[in-house]
Amino acid sequence: MRSHYCGDLRKEHIGEDITLTGWVHRRRDHGGVIFLDLRDREGLTQVVFDPDREESFTLADSCRSEYVVEVKGTVRGRPEGTVNPDMPTGEIEVLGKELVILNKSETPPFQLDEHQQVGEEVRLRHRYIDLRRPEMQEKLRFRSKVTNAIRSYMDEHGFLDIETPILNRATPEGARDYLVPSRVHEGHFFALPQSPQLFKQLLMVAGFDRYYQVAKCFRDEDLRADRQPEFTQIDIETSFMNEEEIMGITEKMIRKLFLELKGIDLGEFPRMPYSEAMQRFGSDKPDLRYPMELVDVADLMAEIEFKVFAGPAKDPKGRVAALKVPGGAQLTRKIIDEYTQFVSIYGAKGLAWIKVNELEKGVEGLQSPIVKFLGAEVAMAIMERLGAENGDIVFFGADKEKIVSEALGALRIKVGEDLEMAQCEWAPLWVVDFPMFEETDNGGLTALHHPFTAPSCTPEELKANPLEALSRAYDMVLNGCELGGGSIRIHNQEMQASVLDILGISDEEADDKFGFLLNALKYGAPPHGGLAFGLDRLIMLMTGTDSIREVIAFPKTQSSACMMTQAPGEVSAAQLRELNIKLRKTP
Ligand code: AMO
Ligand code: AMP
Repeated sequence: MRSHYCGDLRKEHIGEDITLTGWVHRRRDHGGVIFLDLRDREGLTQVVFDPDREESFTLADSCRSEYVVEVKGTVRGRPEGTVNPDMPTGEIEVLGKELVILNKSETPPFQLDEHQQVGEEVRLRHRYIDLRRPEMQEKLRFRSKVTNAIRSYMDEHGFLDIETPILNRATPEGARDYLVPSRVHEGHFFALPQSPQLFKQLLMVAGFDRYYQVAKCFRDEDLRADRQPEFTQIDIETSFMNEEEIMGITEKMIRKLFLELKGIDLGEFPRMPYSEAMQRFGSDKPDLRYPMELVDVADLMAEIEFKVFAGPAKDPKGRVAALKVPGGAQLTRKIIDEYTQFVSIYGAKGLAWIKVNELEKGVEGLQSPIVKFLGAEVAMAIMERLGAENGDIVFFGADKEKIVSEALGALRIKVGEDLEMAQCEWAPLWVVDFPMFEETDNGGLTALHHPFTAPSCTPEELKANPLEALSRAYDMVLNGCELGGGSIRIHNQEMQASVLDILGISDEEADDKFGFLLNALKYGAPPHGGLAFGLDRLIMLMTGTDSIREVIAFPKTQSSACMMTQAPGEVSAAQLRELNIKLRKTP
């Protein structure tokens, strides 16, 4: 139908007879002349209809927003004074000669350029209209460019794109599974993959050596701004490569994407052990754009009267840490109260603070509700350790280690954002040397990455001291966001059995759940390892978007539902009967 895209017309097309198709973005009546701004995926072009062509003029006059039309006309330069430098097609317009209305539109639920005034719910319910907005078109087009570039990179480096099944047994990645009932096998369920983890390992046992997949993953977990129940991984697995080689080849890919698609050189990614990240930044995905660091002060607090601090200071599982915010003495009481509220999300019971007003006056120059409990000596020793200066504020956390690290770690980022303290635009790094296991609330152990990750010690050392053992896992972090994670896997059946044993998974359960993997490891499994990137998160960062929903064509809401199709929905009694499912009446 069309000869050109609307957004592609330029000065060099002047004089050409062309045919455009698209949506009426706006109709304007300028004293007897009708202007239609016609829109397609490439952009907008202004089409002018004069009254002397009566038929097309009348039709153009009847057009409304979002009508779909075909226009035949001639490109001409815009008259002096009407050139629009803000529009790529702003130097030209089309003199409309023939107009066909291909389809009418009811008044849309919102005008495209007024999307901000309607809630996200309305936008998601009419996502097909929301997606017409140039920003949304741009994001999805960018996403397509990224997957394309990733595919080329993978292909150039000898990776094979192999699909793995969606209807599976449960894979233990830590989240809840989405289950699909089987009609044929009464009382049995498939689980949707939380990731292709076990299949990609089996592909290595099968000798494919280098695999990748743009893989859909499903996790029934609590949603946040950077999480969706259904998301996409760039999933990678290799054989005979060590962690250095895997980190090398994947880092090169991310750097290439940023350089080629955004003109940004991320530079070489630094490495940081997990323990250092937790200690200095209170996070296993530190945002290194902000310079502030957590400083431990438990040793200075152990002997003071103030139980709130002395208790955790003496507890081997406790932590007392300080966060110095340069220039933070200007923060008002109201803001400090907001921050106290903020850290309570992470379980902190309070947020003590000291404002450094006039350090030269000693403890008299400090303003704080807690200095009287600390005593002058301790207060000044803390100031010295932190290198505090006039105008700073120091926040304190005292509690179990996990609570203090998470609370002050999150506060560090919040204050950094609020006070615009970022020192660079992009801060990538690798976090390495993760512990193999962490303690669960009920005293058991759980794998920090997943149970197929290789430890960096022998099975004997692992068994003797599981909480001390480190794993061969690595995470790629960008601006405080976990972009991807992976590990060298266990390829030896005994080692795999000991890890499952430490996790308290019995032989029967292991055999029942992943006997197929344990078996495969007996038949010549090569040393292997890999990594998976969160594609949605990568696009989110690259497009500077703060919600993952903005880079997914048809996302789910915070409550894991689709506003447009109303999924999940009820099913008929007949379908349930066929599946042998009887719903329990909710009280
Ligand atoms: P992991 O669970 O760390 O590892 O996931 C890899 C990456 O996927 C992204 N991601 C998500 N993105 C959006 N919504 C979610 N709910 C979500 N969950 C995870 C993150 C994360 O870094 N099989 C292993 C990988 C491996 O060991 O090779 C795995 O899935 O960016
Ligand atoms: P309180 O004696 O409970 O009034 O606490 C005195 C100050 O210490 C207040 O500013 C509290 O916000 C702060 N505070 C209380 N508990 C903690 C904690 N666990 N960590 C850090 N500060 C705390």
